[in-house]
Amino acid sequence: MKKFNITIAGGGSTFTPGIILMLMDYLDEFPIDTIKLYDNDGDRQKTVADACEILLKERAPEVNLLASTNPEEAFTNVDFVMAHIRVGKYAMREQDEKIPLKHGVVGQETCGPGGIAYGMRSIPGVLELVDYMETYSPDAWMLNYSNPAAIVAEATRKLRPNSKILNICDMPIGIEELIAKSLGLSSRKEMEVNYYGLNHFGWWTDIRDKAGNSLMPQVTEHVSKYGYTMGGQDIPGEEASWNSTFKKAKDVQALDAETVPNTYLKYYFYPDAEVAHSDKNHTRANEVMEGREKFIFGECQAIIDRGTAKDSKLETDDHASYIVDLAKAIAFNTKERMLMIVENNGAIVNFDPTAMVEVPCLVGSNGPEKTVVGEIPRFQKSLMEQQVGVEKLVVEGFEEGSYQKLWQALTLSKTVPSARVAKDILDDLIEANRAFWPELK
Ligand code: NAD
Ligand code: G6P
Ligand code: MN
Repeated sequence: MKKFNITIAGGGSTFTPGIILMLMDYLDEFPIDTIKLYDNDGDRQKTVADACEILLKERAPEVNLLASTNPEEAFTNVDFVMAHIRVGKYAMREQDEKIPLKHGVVGQETCGPGGIAYGMRSIPGVLELVDYMETYSPDAWMLNYSNPAAIVAEATRKLRPNSKILNICDMPIGIEELIAKSLGLSSRKEMEVNYYGLNHFGWWTDIRDKAGNSLMPQVTEHVSKYGYTMGGQDIPGEEASWNSTFKKAKDVQALDAETVPNTYLKYYFYPDAEVAHSDKNHTRANEVMEGREKFIFGECQAIIDRGTAKDSKLETDDHASYIVDLAKAIAFNTKERMLMIVENNGAIVNFDPTAMVEVPCLVGSNGPEKTVVGEIPRFQKSLMEQQVGVEKLVVEGFEEGSYQKLWQALTLSKTVPSARVAKDILDDLIEANRAFWPELK
């Protein structure tokens, strides 16, 4: 079987070790010759790379690892680019969350003003990766999960329309795993689902077992009582903030009892409660820096210091195996059904054909083939139109360097109460993002 070469862009990400361990678990199905790590922060990447090199030598010595900050070296002769960059790193995520909160508005990395700010940083970062890939490996595919995926996907649709880039999110996968568990199934792969929406903004309309029996009555009843928690109990191993999100899904689901929602809708339906429960001085970015980042970099350093990964607590990110499913779908034309962020183009019949929507697709060597969702109800359609407007205005604002369009985008966001507040937040975001955003006129 052909062995694939992969670039992981954002090599210094907290997710890189888990993804490499996951790739090791799937070598039989998806053989790998070389993994190249690419990052524009060489020091951050080096800690991850040195630890992963030791780990690979011990567990899969046939796989080569190379780490580089040189695009030509990192992107030459590869089949796939798996991209998870965070432009501005956690320091800027902290700003994305804290600046809106200072003005009494939801502070979230992908939703509302924080997502807009992050989008303006991610667009040029991801476009640069696409250009490197096309220059040095023109036949390669990019599997992108850099956030905010909705805005990044709209930017690549518009600014790199012919590029082989697939945008995907793990939130539906995580939620489907919780649904499967609540039904007593061993994994989400025992279910067939129908879903539509935008990234971090969607609904499941159908969930069936493999025999075709609807599981929706049980699922909607469970979510209406317990959200995505386990019968009201916290999910073991999950952080408190995620458990609170899973519980809140109950209130989100109440808006449409026939479907079950993506957890991120809570920021649009209950922004007041979100702000009231937020600590303006200690947000999710702080939790992640104190938790995941400290743990991953501590473990990597310990592997380097000991010279072995034998007793390492680094774990495979089995959750991330959808990335292998996607790579295999492209490489082996499997036509696996997956939720992808794609141009609508008729999939949702009564919706903007140019909107980037999240819908089931059959993925093969030519990329994703969308399935037809049909017509969607007025409530969801109206919400999605507003949110698509925000995402499109951000991309236009980026392209044109337009202050006005960014102000309109913030004003249109359902999370922002007025144009006045939108302007105050925008002015603070511009100040904080001087090193990243184009100049706005
Ligand atoms: P992280 O900060 O630990 O890692 C990101 C890395 O990207 C850093 O090492 C940074 O130096 C690097 N980077 C930043 N800008 C770059 C550029 N222009 N070129 C090359 N490298 C660059 O962040 P993390 O928490 O591990 O998350 C990584 C990304 O994955 C984020 O965008 C996050 O939102 C995303 N993510 C997405 C999903 C999804 O469902 N789509 C799930 C999990 C994480
Ligand atoms: C989910 C979303 C991702 C997001 C992540 C944030 O997995 O799908 O898009 O990046 O949550 O998690 P964090 O632990 O960084 O807050
Ligand atoms: Mn996501």
